[in-house]
Amino acid sequence: MDLLKTLGVRAVNSGACVGPDAWSGVDADKSFASINPATERDIARVTPATAEDGERIISSARQSFATWRTVPAPKRGELVRRIGGLLREHKDALGSLVAMEVGKIKQEGDGEVQEMIDMADLAVGQARMLYGSTMQSERPQHRMYEQWHPLGLVGVISAFNFPAAVWSWNAFLAAVCGNTVIWKPSPKAPLTAIAVQHLANQAMKESGYPGVFSLFIPGDNALAEQFVADRRLALISFTGSSAVGHRVAQTVAGRLGRYLLECSGNNAIIVDESADLGVAIPSIVFGAVGTAGQRCTTTRRLIVQQARYTALITKLKLAYAQVRIGDPLDGSTLMGPLIDKAAVEHFEQAVEEARACGGEVICGGKVRAGPGYFVEPTVIRAENHWPCVQKETFAPILYVMVYDDLTEAITLQNAVPQGLSSAIFTQNLLHAEEFLSAFGSDCGIANVNLGTSGAEIGGAFGGEKETGGGREAGSDVWKAYMRRQTNTINWGREVALAQGIRFDLGA
Ligand code: UN1
Repeated sequence: MDLLKTLGVRAVNSGACVGPDAWSGVDADKSFASINPATERDIARVTPATAEDGERIISSARQSFATWRTVPAPKRGELVRRIGGLLREHKDALGSLVAMEVGKIKQEGDGEVQEMIDMADLAVGQARMLYGSTMQSERPQHRMYEQWHPLGLVGVISAFNFPAAVWSWNAFLAAVCGNTVIWKPSPKAPLTAIAVQHLANQAMKESGYPGVFSLFIPGDNALAEQFVADRRLALISFTGSSAVGHRVAQTVAGRLGRYLLECSGNNAIIVDESADLGVAIPSIVFGAVGTAGQRCTTTRRLIVQQARYTALITKLKLAYAQVRIGDPLDGSTLMGPLIDKAAVEHFEQAVEEARACGGEVICGGKVRAGPGYFVEPTVIRAENHWPCVQKETFAPILYVMVYDDLTEAITLQNAVPQGLSSAIFTQNLLHAEEFLSAFGSDCGIANVNLGTSGAEIGGAFGGEKETGGGREAGSDVWKAYMRRQTNTINWGREVALAQGIRFDLGA
């Protein structure tokens, strides 16, 4: 296929790379396939990385770090700028590969690449702004300030649903901060990672810094766990389920390493009595069915003021009827397939569990005949405390519930274990402010009159509680990839102890 060729993806690819022209060998017999979830056909194959590859990748990233940390940060930014340029050139092809490999629609595949381009721009600028503060010393003729140094090796573990953008959030900042980066992508989306590594390789080759970005696609969980446990990795950034996030956090904390988690969400939209449904409905539908409900920011719960329920459900049903399901690469499709068979089973189980609790399926609820892992976008009247509503099922299921007053709505919104994204649709200023207040939404992201998904990279992205507390992308997130050093310099001729302590040697 031309598309794959343009991106350097072959019939059988290596799952380990330490830089330009430094891929491990391929072995078709040991390889696994990446499957197009819309057709269930193989796209191409990958020879997984071995334990030896893992060792080679980590030791080579260490060697590269020794040089890379000495390169001035604005110069480091030039490497990221070049990758951003290559992403611009390959946006169409890479966006299509994302759509083909994970089933999100072409618009969203392209959007993912745009997110990477935006992230590159942000990181290039950030490279000149790794600011530290100056503090006032309590001692005479002393100067105190802080500076930010590179951390070391950064491991980035990404999920299938954002098979490239999440790497860029972490990798671009980590690189301008002077770290070398090892990427362990999801085994469900290895080809996108391989295509991105080819672009990074080209940029690294041109820049003369070959070992900044490397790729590690192991064949089994044991190797991934070894990777997380390896003391040589200063920071592990993990995106995925809360269940795996717990394990990652425990392993990394066990060696007192640093971790940054972006785990499950269970995001709600509140629609109050004053909400403009013309704005709310499209936002709810995009939030609930976008990426077939497989974003961590997907809208999973809709909390509606009693009086608006009937009007909202009538409009929502009409809108859901417009959602064209099918080939993600067809420009008119609005929802593609789920990632695999297991995801379809999880969808079925969740619908079944909701029904068993007394849930009314308002629309959808069924699996479409294959080929492809297609399901119907589903709306279910439910109650917040039901176990199926309390957990994140990566599928397009929207649970709807009603409330009387705003305090109750906010309580419901917060009464889940996760805390990623949230939104309110209102034209009532007091409601908007209450929702954003310290006793409002407990999430990392809280929006007014826009949905829960589709965050811009300029803000810090992440959430609280079981979402893991990490932040990625914009704002001052770069600090997570650096070590802070406090420096005090005595430029006088006297010894002065802090806290006024006297220590007189008497001589
Ligand atoms: C994710 O699903 O892991 O806000 C991230 C959004 C995207 C990122 C989602 N910018 O929906």
